Amino acid sequence: MPPYIHFNHEEFGSIVKKDYTFTFAGTVSEVHIQDEIPTLDTIFTDMGQKGPRPASLLICDENTLPIARKITGEDPGVPICTLQSGEEKKTWGSVEKILGAAKAVGLGRDGIFIAAGGGVISDLTAFAASIYMRGSRLCIVSTTLLGMVDAAVGGKTGFDLFGVKNFAGTFFPAAQIYLPVESLKTLPKNEWKSGMAELIKTAVLDRDEEFFRLLKSFKGDFPRGDKLIDCIARSVALKGRIVEADPKETGTERALLNLGHTFGHALESVAGLGRLSHGEAVAWGMARSCELGLALGITPKDRADAIISLLRSFAYETAAPHPLMETDAETFLKALGGDKKKKGGKLTFIVPAAQGGQLVSDTAEKPITEFLLKNLVNGGSSKIKNLTTNHTKNTN
Ligand SMILES: NC(=O)c1ccc[n+]([C@@H]2O[C@H](COP(=O)([O-])OP(=O)(O)OC[C@H]3O[C@@H](n4cnc5c(N)ncnc54)[C@H](O)[C@@H]3O)[C@@H](O)[C@H]2O)c1
Ligand SMILES: [Zn+2]
Repeated sequence: MPPYIHFNHEEFGSIVKKDYTFTFAGTVSEVHIQDEIPTLDTIFTDMGQKGPRPASLLICDENTLPIARKITGEDPGVPICTLQSGEEKKTWGSVEKILGAAKAVGLGRDGIFIAAGGGVISDLTAFAASIYMRGSRLCIVSTTLLGMVDAAVGGKTGFDLFGVKNFAGTFFPAAQIYLPVESLKTLPKNEWKSGMAELIKTAVLDRDEEFFRLLKSFKGDFPRGDKLIDCIARSVALKGRIVEADPKETGTERALLNLGHTFGHALESVAGLGRLSHGEAVAWGMARSCELGLALGITPKDRADAIISLLRSFAYETAAPHPLMETDAETFLKALGGDKKKKGGKLTFIVPAAQGGQLVSDTAEKPITEFLLKNLVNGGSSKIKNLTTNHTKNTN
């Protein structure tokens, strides 16, 4: 285990608790992967709060209110601000509601914002905490699989604006992050499926093939118990390591986490928002990335086959064209070009390499476009000839 990950095992019956400490651009984030939902006592203690508690606020949505109530218990000391759930509520209006509630409870710069919810609640709360009185204190209790393996760790905050996802945001890592698997007991199946795709993405990026083998061994069932904690821990370790290396996505390292996302976002936009989950779109995008990587000679055939077969085992749609595409190739390509990850006017993709992932950008764009037109939208297979990839970094 690399030295910068502090790895503690604590046995709770059959359940293992794992703690990690990361430093993201000078800010220390502690991550606790555990069975139980934390109490306020635990949160304030871990936040280093000695003596009287400062006025603080717990933010949840209508579906995570029972979890928020479990955190506060009988303690009325921390008021709860409940937002409506859903990506369509990831707006400035919700941020304003959080800021207003914080002001109403007299939260000062020493006060703590506690998010209890999935990625929408943690992104909104983290953004509000980052601008409240020029920045206050933040703790995240993540309650979705996607939140645990992706959104809660790494310091990206934000909300949707002008119809663009995460158009406005900041980097503001939480000091304490709890990933309590007990909270997943009420998570709907479609949300499990959405998070599972990000878990598969991380396993593909991980150069330790043990993670990939572990996911294969589930044969399409969602992991439970110790195995679930193990999967979350592996994702957290990898994401934490990547974000430590490239906290503000100025290099190529953090971009690797976008495996499957350029294609996935394009599919989400042409299919129409809400018709398929983010994870389903990313899973389909990963299958496309495999095909692209194969054509570029970067993804070995057996690796592409193994990834697509893992995706299929979890019942993700992997074939092109996607049944919800209902569009022509040109429209799809336009949607691909509209991805905000587009760099310097050229399309950027992450493709699986022999191990880990690799960024392909600044390539001779035309052949890729032709390839996409021929294969990724209309089906079929071909090789891209004479492509030079401007390099490329693996997830070491
Ligand atoms: N900051 C980052 O680095 C990062 C990374 C990935 C994704 N994200 C963001 O995360 C968001 C998606 O996150 P998400 O999938 O968690 O969405 P979400 O927060 O909307 O949660 C999905 C649904 O599950 C419900 N829910 C949450 N926890 C529950 C529980 N324990 N039991 C029952 N229902 C529960 C929510 O109310 C919601 O209806 C997107 O907005 C995305 O931009 C951020
Ligand atoms: Zn994602």
